[in-house]
Amino acid sequence: MIEGKTILITGVTGQVAFPVAARLAGANRVLALGRFGGKGDLERVRAIGAEPRYCDIAAGDFAKVPSDPDFVLHFAVAKSGDNNFNADLRMNAEGVGLLMAHCRQAKAFLHCSSTGVYRGGAGPVSEESPLADHHQYLLPTYSICKIAAEAVVRMSARSLGLPTTIARLAVPYGAGGGWPWFHLMMMKNGAPIPLHPAGLNHFPLLHEDDYTRQVEALLGMASVPATLVNWAGSEPTTIEAWCKELGALTGFEPKFETTERALQPLHIDTTRLEAVAGPSRVHWRDGLRQMVEVRNPELLARG
Ligand SMILES: NC(=O)c1ccc[n+]([C@@H]2O[C@H](COP(=O)([O-])OP(=O)(O)OC[C@H]3O[C@@H](n4cnc5c(N)ncnc54)[C@H](OP(=O)(O)O)[C@@H]3O)[C@@H](O)[C@H]2O)c1
Repeated sequence: MIEGKTILITGVTGQVAFPVAARLAGANRVLALGRFGGKGDLERVRAIGAEPRYCDIAAGDFAKVPSDPDFVLHFAVAKSGDNNFNADLRMNAEGVGLLMAHCRQAKAFLHCSSTGVYRGGAGPVSEESPLADHHQYLLPTYSICKIAAEAVVRMSARSLGLPTTIARLAVPYGAGGGWPWFHLMMMKNGAPIPLHPAGLNHFPLLHEDDYTRQVEALLGMASVPATLVNWAGSEPTTIEAWCKELGALTGFEPKFETTERALQPLHIDTTRLEAVAGPSRVHWRDGLRQMVEVRNPELLARG
């Protein structure tokens, strides 16, 4: 466990970074960077013991951000969903370059990327596998901006000499929600869940207890040039299986719709991650139950 460090973390008002900040805040000085425009955002961040600091990454506004933290954890992302490539490239690609330049004295920089940079398909996807516009039908700017951001991060790590890890995150979930929770809400509302026709829809779930624990190992992998690593759960699972499990917990029957416009399945090779962080520990069935218990206990009673 990291202790006594000054840690900058972006994206704390979002799903993924909040539990990371909460885990680190007790034993470290955690500065949460963001715009905090949402109702209750500041109070929520202060309640976990983090210090909110205004910062607009797209604007390159780092006036309130120290330039010499121990570690930087970069989770902020823009996904406008409306084909606004220029705005999203400005935030995701230019923004991370500006942030790295500002924090060049840090000991290590963790950039959260996505397995949504891969082409997907049947076989296991390693860090050397081909890239593509995986999310084009769901979030048109997302994959391209995540790939562009990775390129900026790689270049910045080298030009600044800043030890960096690029971690390609798969499907995070837990008390903060996540993709399986959206599926649960679709099941509750009788909405069909899209499945790709390419066989079983493999996507590895990664519970927040696991990914928050793995942050330290990811920082330990930071290097120049940047280390590239898949960040996914060790156990294979599928949308079909987790929706069935959610159905067993709540009594809602999943309805599926097969469409080429669904995300291509991603079977992620976690060999590189597990060599330093070990396998994930939370079984996805236990994690799903915990997610429903925390977020929707009233639905669990139906199961
Ligand atoms: N959620 C997933 O299923 C998933 C899967 C794979 C990878 N990832 C990756 O995980 C990371 C976190 O994703 P998430 O789902 O937690 O994101 P999210 O819920 O959409 O939250 C986005 C965050 O980015 C911040 N942000 C956006 N524009 C900003 C700006 N101009 N300046 C400063 N902060 C800005 C927002 O903060 P304010 O609005 O308060 O400023 C917010 O905290 C991302 O890198 C994402 O690509 C997520």
